[in-house]
Amino acid sequence: MGVFSSLGLFYAIILKKTLEQVLGKRKDNPMIDNLRKKIETALAEAKDMTALENLRVSILGKKGEITDLLKSLGQLPKEERAQAGQAANELRDWATLAIKSAIDDMAQVQQQNALATESIDVTLPGRRRKIGRLHPISVTHKKLEDLFVSLGFNILEGPHIETVYNNFDALNTPHNHPSRDEADTFYFNDNLLLRCHTSPMQVRVMEAQAPPIRVVIPGMTYRRDEIDATHTPAFHQMEGLVIDKGITFGDLKGMLELIVRHIFGPGTAIRLRPSYFPFTEPSAEVDVTCYSCKAKAPEGCRVCKGSGWVELWGCGMVHPNVLRMSGIDPEVYTGYAFGLGTDRITSAINGITDPRLYFDNDMQFLSQF
Ligand code: PHE
Repeated sequence: MGVFSSLGLFYAIILKKTLEQVLGKRKDNPMIDNLRKKIETALAEAKDMTALENLRVSILGKKGEITDLLKSLGQLPKEERAQAGQAANELRDWATLAIKSAIDDMAQVQQQNALATESIDVTLPGRRRKIGRLHPISVTHKKLEDLFVSLGFNILEGPHIETVYNNFDALNTPHNHPSRDEADTFYFNDNLLLRCHTSPMQVRVMEAQAPPIRVVIPGMTYRRDEIDATHTPAFHQMEGLVIDKGITFGDLKGMLELIVRHIFGPGTAIRLRPSYFPFTEPSAEVDVTCYSCKAKAPEGCRVCKGSGWVELWGCGMVHPNVLRMSGIDPEVYTGYAFGLGTDRITSAINGITDPRLYFDNDMQFLSQF
């Protein structure tokens, strides 16, 4: 309040002086004098920006009093017109300047008041920002992707909800195969399911592009498994597919050894066990030495269940039926495929013995990586 009323007084003095300069020598012009006084009073009384703005509009706006005054000059007798016109114009110039500087000063006062009320307590402790990090399985995926990109592979992703055709039929899976059972796979209906492996992406890729093909597809997969020390109903795989002229099982084995060396270092042993998958022929399981007991005390080991080996992925040469169904001539092209179990690879790298930890979102666990 104090600030505003002294501001008002200040203006009253300034305005009076200016007005004397403008109109001092003139004879009485009661209309102009009254308007001037009215403006002076209003400026002295204006307590905030809204009042000043309203004043500006009511005096200088389109229908403002000075505007009206200027418009009405034409009705005066000729001999008075020039002098009155000059007085009115001077009044308008004066009022424009006076109201504008009152508005500018009011803005400054408001800003100073705002700064005075704002205070920062510099002694308060800072707020620590938690820095996020990659999930350990993402770290494994990135590490593997680095290798595959360096070998000229493309990295793709596929839908988690798949067709029964891509997930089973186009992969040469017999109708009586146990993986088709509702007890093993999550079905939405007769045609759609949650993919139980990343292999349906083999079909999508082969249908979409002609050989040569070099792709890997990381992603989550789903099976109706009971949760235990080696199983979770959601888990991750990274599918690999290579199709070209003259690809052999030797190329596959070389690739597997390259992958194992890249992840576990040169010391880790692998074992290829003959196996069966409907979509590869011949097929094999790839095992590595147990990362929990290091194959030293397998009897009591929950991870390798006494074998000293852990199954990490399946692989094989792409079955001619699969190539044919996806429009590739098996007489011209051959290829191999593999499905890396990346949860288990992550466990092996980090010595983790319980895959449930990957899905618990426990910060104490996750912040260790
Ligand atoms: N899809 C198989 C599985 O989930 C793994 C696999 C992929 C086997 C590619 C052979 C070729 O068990």
